[in-house]
This record gives sequence, C-alpha cells and structure tokens, in this order.
Amino acid sequence: MCGIVGYVGAKKCTDILINGLKKLEYRGYDSAGIAMFEGNKIKTIKAKGKISEGLIPKVNEQHPFAAVSGIGHTRWATHGEPSDKNSHPIGTDRVSIVHNGIIENYREIKNYLLEQGYSFESETDTETVAKLLDKNYNGDPIDTIIKTLSHIEGAYALGIMFADHKDHIFAVRKESPLIVGKGSGEMFIASDVTAIIEYTKEYYLLEKDEIAEITKDGVVFCDLERNKITKELQIADWDISAAEKGGYDHFMLKEIHEQPDALIKTIKPRIKDGMPDFSECGLTDEKIRSYHNIYIVGCGSAMHAGVVGKYITESIARTPVIVDMASEFRYRNPLLTEKDLVVVISQSGETADTLEALKLSNKAGADTLAIVNVVGSSIAREAKMVMYTLAGPEISVCSTKAYMVQTAFMYLLALRIAYAKGTITHIEIKQLVGELLEIPNKVQMCIENYEQYKNVALRLINTESLLYIGRGLDYALSMEGSLKLKEISYIHSESYAAGELKHGTISLIYEGMPVIAVATQHDLLEKTLSNVKEVKSRGAKVILICSEGMQDIKDEVDHIVYLPKARDMFMPLTAVVPLQLIAYYTAVYRNCDVDHPRNLAKSVTVE
Ligand code: F6R
Repeated sequence: MCGIVGYVGAKKCTDILINGLKKLEYRGYDSAGIAMFEGNKIKTIKAKGKISEGLIPKVNEQHPFAAVSGIGHTRWATHGEPSDKNSHPIGTDRVSIVHNGIIENYREIKNYLLEQGYSFESETDTETVAKLLDKNYNGDPIDTIIKTLSHIEGAYALGIMFADHKDHIFAVRKESPLIVGKGSGEMFIASDVTAIIEYTKEYYLLEKDEIAEITKDGVVFCDLERNKITKELQIADWDISAAEKGGYDHFMLKEIHEQPDALIKTIKPRIKDGMPDFSECGLTDEKIRSYHNIYIVGCGSAMHAGVVGKYITESIARTPVIVDMASEFRYRNPLLTEKDLVVVISQSGETADTLEALKLSNKAGADTLAIVNVVGSSIAREAKMVMYTLAGPEISVCSTKAYMVQTAFMYLLALRIAYAKGTITHIEIKQLVGELLEIPNKVQMCIENYEQYKNVALRLINTESLLYIGRGLDYALSMEGSLKLKEISYIHSESYAAGELKHGTISLIYEGMPVIAVATQHDLLEKTLSNVKEVKSRGAKVILICSEGMQDIKDEVDHIVYLPKARDMFMPLTAVVPLQLIAYYTAVYRNCDVDHPRNLAKSVTVE
C-alpha cells in the first residue's frame, strides 16, 4: 500500500525517482509525487492519477531540474480521496515526507497542532507527521525524528527530507517495509527492491524502529536511543528483466507464462531423495506429529491456496486443517495453543492482516511457518519457520504465479504431513512427488491452449454477473477463478459450492447467465453434472472446465475446456491456468487496465 522511493547521488534525481515509482505503481496508483532539493529549498511536484497521466506531464512542464537528491511516493488512498492535495510528498518549508502506512492517533496529533497554530491543507494522516516534525525541529534531524516518533501510533515507513540538510535523506520504519539501496557514489531508499534493482542489487533491510541517515557516500543506522547499528548487506538474486514486461502486453500475462518455471524453482530444491523436505526451516516429522491443530491463514489468493491445502491435507494425511482469512482469524479470538501450527501464506510478506495473525499466533505460543515470496519481508522475519516460494517478483496486482507456487507448496506440506503421520507409504509419496514434478509441463500445455480461453472470454464480455461452481477441490479452485475475473474485469462473479446452489443461490440464475463449472474430480463428476443440469434447465449457459477423457459430457454444456490429464489431486495446479487466462482476456476485451485494477494495490499494508 503506497510505494516510497528516494535517491541521493550525483545524477539528476527526477528520472530515477520516477522510474522507481513506476516500478512501485503496483503498490497503489491513486496519485504520485516527488520532492527534491533545489538550492536550500524543497521543490515538490505531485498529481492525482497514475504516474504517466498525472505526475509525468507536470514534471515535464517544469523541467529541467538539476536536483541530485529527493524522495517520491505513489499512493493508495486511505485517509482522504485521491487528489493533488492529498498526494505525497507532504510537508512544510522545512520538512517534506513520504509515508506508507496509517497513523492511528492522527486526530489527536492534529488537534494538538491546531492548538499550536498549525493549519492543514490535506485530509491525510501523513500531514500530521510532517507538521509534528516541523514543530519539533531543533536543527538535529535524528533528534527531531526520535521525538516525533515517540508521539506516533500506527504503521509507517517514512522517507524524510529537511530543507537545511541538503542532499541528506532520512528513513525510518515501524510496520511498513523499507530498504536502503547501496550503489557506488549513490544511495537509495525504496519500499522494495524492484524500484532500485536497475541501479543496484545491494541493499540493507531497515528494521522496525531503526533510523537511517543517507548521503551519497553511505548510510548510518541508529536505534531510537541513537545507538549506532551495523547491518548486513543483502544481495538481490534477480535482475531488472524480472521486473519488466519482457515483450508481454501486461505483467499478468508475463507472470502466467512464468508459472512452469516458478513451479520448478519452488518445488525441485524441496525434494530430497524423492521426498518433500522441510529441513531448511526446521519442520521435522517429530514436530508435525506433535501438533494438535493446523491452521492455514492468508488473504485473497493466498487464502485460496490454503483452501486447496486443507482439502489435500485432510484427504491424504487424514489431519484436520482450519483455513482462515487473516482478517477474520485475528479478531475471532482463535483457540490457539503452543501445540498448534499456524501456516501463514503471503506473496508480499507485508499484508497487514496476515502479519497481525502471525503475531497473534506467535504470542499464543503456537509454532508458525510462513510461506512467503518476498525475501526478508516482515512476515518472513516474524515467523518461527520460513520457506520461500521462488516465483521471482510478482508485479501484476492480480496474483497468478504466486498463487501457483503457494498451492504447490500446499502439496509438499500435505505429503510431508501424510508421511510423518504414516497415512501414506514412502513408495506412495515418491510416486506422487514424481507426478507433481510433471505438473510444470502440464501447466505449460494449458498456457499454450490460450485460444480456447479467448473464446470463453468472448462469451463473458457483456455479462453483468456470473457464477463459478465446483465441488471439493474444484470448489476451492472456483474461488480463485471468480476472484481473478471480478478483480480485473469488474464483472460481478461469485464462487459457489455446486451442491449448495439449490439452498438459495440458484434463484440468481437467469436466462443466458454464464456459469463456469469446474469438474476435474472424477469421484464428484456425476454430482457436479447434476448441478450443471439444474442451472442449465433454468437458462444458464454453462462453460465446463474438465479433464481430457471426460469427452462424453460435452453435449451437456454450452462450451467445454479440456485440461491435460493428471491425477485428480493435482488438477488445481493445471485448472487454474484457464481460469487465470479467461479472466485476463475478458479484462483485455473489456479494455480494463489489467495490471492496475481500480481501487486495488498489490501490497495491502493496512487492515
Ligand atoms: C488477488 C490478490 C490478492 C492477494 C492478497 C494477499 O489476485 O493478489 O487477493 O492474494 O492480497 O496478498 P499477499 O499474498 O501478498 O499476502
């Protein structure tokens, strides 16, 4: 939620800041802005809307700038509508800040500052921090920051400039992420590596309550007592091409195509002697056997991967699994003990609800395992055990390859739990692992079938509403298919357990309403087909997604999509591809901004 970038060096900073912001636009695109040192003043340019539509034209009008240091921000609005005045950077003549997070006690601070004679131009919580910094300023930036932070409650990552400390940038964070990039004769700050990877792969992770003072020659870290801190330099193991579209029209399409490779990278290193191996995080069979309850917690697509995890773990490991949306889990006072395992799933590793659910679990003494894509992210650091999905950066707001590898991880985990609990033999596991390793090829085959999905998309473009139905694993998958479609095409859709339709929802069916039925599970096929008949006889146009070999049912539906054969248990990994691509092409045909769906941001660091 919101992206921050900053640069101090010898080059003109405008382009570097704007470039960085473009890479961070997935974090929010309600407005964008930059602030730079100009003489002994701070010059700010900011505008509502996407960077290309708002900020860049404004910057071009006011070019050229000689500034060699500055900060930038791309916003996902929380407090105050998207507008020029609510855009960051925000400040006074003396100080300018960019902020990612939410200041919870902003009203209290605002009232205090109003009493002190300050006035406010924006509706943001951020302005209260900027003005409090201004009020507290005593010529010593670190001292001022420490004093100001002692009055602030909430989540934040801040980039700060003081007009009288030319070419210095200060950074501090609490819950929201921030890194400090190290170049040669130039330094950066950013919400994540994507923004600076073009310039450097070396960076420091700023920890909670650490302050960084950055000049072109380096960075000095200290804590809130001004004790100096030495930090380890991190090296990103991917390069700029991973953060660019590489010839694809959209990041989403590129990332869908990257799925076979992401699967191989994620699964293969975790297979030892034909067995899923969790030793890298310390999850032993003994531990697995000791757990009383297993919870899987995440948001959106990550939670949907968890639902697949539940179905397969309960089926092959005969172990109950409770899946929760992180936002619900936190506040429902879950029955956690030190005998439980809580698995949290997150691509970004920064989702506030998931992070808080994790903290709650840690506090209750439960064992915690994070399955995370972004290395060094807050969730990765907070969990007792961490395993990384190795999908590379996911830029598209709409998750595809991250869901794929999260789901693949669910199989590895379920198989290991099954082995530890003795519900499956060594030989059976090896056989299943062998089949899992064939899935990347099958995913590739599904991707190559894209013409089929275009045909389906053409059937959906003018619809107002549709249903996704399925049973068992197919229901788990329907949830993901429905989310993809509504998220990027803005067509209302619901996922529904096929058998549950007749208990109310079937009344929604109208003549011509599209229903996407997922039926990849042989043991449930007949039952799902009965539900298909029920909706068809009420006028629905049914698009069926099923396995090859189910040819004899094609006359019972309006359109059919076949998937390469695989064991039923593994079908979610292949069947999700048509669902992703149907959503993608539908959104493209409807002229939607696929990579930047309205009202959304990729990394949801607010509750
Ligand atoms: C949907 C999507 C979201 C995320 C969710 C969790 O396409 O991307 O539903 O899956 O916001 O995000 P992470 O995995 O970063 O915790």
